[in-house]
Amino acid sequence: MSDTVLSIRELSVEIPTHTGIVKPVDGVSYDICAGEILGIVGESGAGKSMAGNAVIGLLSPPAHIAAGEIWLNGSRIDALEGEDMRRLRGKQIGMVFQDPLTSLNPLLSIGDQLTETMLTHLDISRGEADRRAIAALEEVGIPGAAERIDSYPHEFSGGMRQRVVIALALCAEPSLIIADEPTTALDVSVQAQIIALLKRLCRDRGTAVMLITHDMGVIAEAADRVGVMYAGRLVELGAVRDVLTAPQHPYTHGLMASTPLASQGKARLHQIEGAMPRLNKVPEGCPFHPRCAYARDKCRVAPGPKIADGRTACWFPLVAEKAS
Ligand SMILES: Nc1ncnc2c1ncn2[C@@H]1O[C@H](COP(=O)(O)OP(=O)(O)OP(=O)(O)O)[C@@H](O)[C@H]1O
Ligand SMILES: [Mg+2]
Repeated sequence: MSDTVLSIRELSVEIPTHTGIVKPVDGVSYDICAGEILGIVGESGAGKSMAGNAVIGLLSPPAHIAAGEIWLNGSRIDALEGEDMRRLRGKQIGMVFQDPLTSLNPLLSIGDQLTETMLTHLDISRGEADRRAIAALEEVGIPGAAERIDSYPHEFSGGMRQRVVIALALCAEPSLIIADEPTTALDVSVQAQIIALLKRLCRDRGTAVMLITHDMGVIAEAADRVGVMYAGRLVELGAVRDVLTAPQHPYTHGLMASTPLASQGKARLHQIEGAMPRLNKVPEGCPFHPRCAYARDKCRVAPGPKIADGRTACWFPLVAEKAS
C-alpha cells in the first residue's frame, strides 16, 4: 500500500545471556499507515518496548536486531547507524515516552528546545521557528503559551510536561510517532486528555502512531488497529473493534476477560492461570499453550501460523459466540 509509513517484517531482537540467547522479539511483522494509530498491547515483558526501540535504533547492547527488516516510507532503516539514525530519529520519527523528563532537557527552556529541534530539521528561519514554537504550545493546550515559552521543564506539571513532549515530538513534522506508555505515569484524570490530544494531532497531520501500552482501555479509546504481544511474539492483529469484541487468540480473550472494560456488567474478572514464561523458558510450539484451555497436540509442537496470513497466530482461533 502506498500510504504505509512503517513496515516491520519478521523482526527478531536477540540478547545473548550467560544462559543462552533470548528473543524478546521473535518474528514480529506489522505495518502502520499514515494517520493510523496501531496499539501494541501485552503484559509486562512481552517485548513491546523492545520492538519500538528497534525501530528507533535505541536497543541497548547487547540487545540487537538479529533478523528481519524495518522499512520507513519505503526505505530500509534497520541497518542505519550513528549520525544517519540520529537524523532519521529527529526528523522522521518522533518519540513520546512514559516519563516526559527523559525527552526534555532540564537546562533548556521549552521554547529553545522546540526552536532548536525545528531549526535542525526544517528549512525555516529563527523568527519562523519562534512563531511556530508558540503555535505548537498553544495547539497542545499550554495556557498562556507566549508567556510560558521561556519556562523550564521543572516549572510544569506532569501532564503539562507530556503536552510539551508531544509538541516537541511533532514539531519536526515526523511521519511516525512512537509513544511508549505515554500516560502511564500521569494522573488518571489527565490520561484521557493526553490520549485525546495525541489522537487528534496525529489524525490532523496524517502521522502514523505506534502506541505501546499495557492498558486495553487506552487501546479502545485511541487505536484503529491493535497488535497483541505475548512472550516476544505477535499473537493477534486486527481492527480494534473486531479484536475487542471477538478476540480470536485465547490469550487475547484472557486479556480482555481480565480487563474491567470488557467485563462491564460481569460479576467478577477472570484471571488467566499461570504467568507469561521467562524468555529463557519459552516453550516449544505456541508460547501460550501451557496456559491455554484449548491447546491441542499441534499447539505443543508447532509455533502458531504466521499472522500475515490471517488475524491470529493461533492454530484453532476462537469463534465469536453467537448472541443469544
Ligand atoms: N539484558 C537483558 N537480558 C535478558 N533479558 C532482557 C534484557 N533486557 C531486557 N530483557 C527482557 O526483554 C523482554 C522484553 O522487554 P520489553 O521492555 O520490551 O517489555 P515490555 O513489553 O515493553 O514490558 P513493559 O510493559 O514492562 O514495559 C523482557 O522480558 C525483559 O526481561
Ligand atoms: Mg515497555
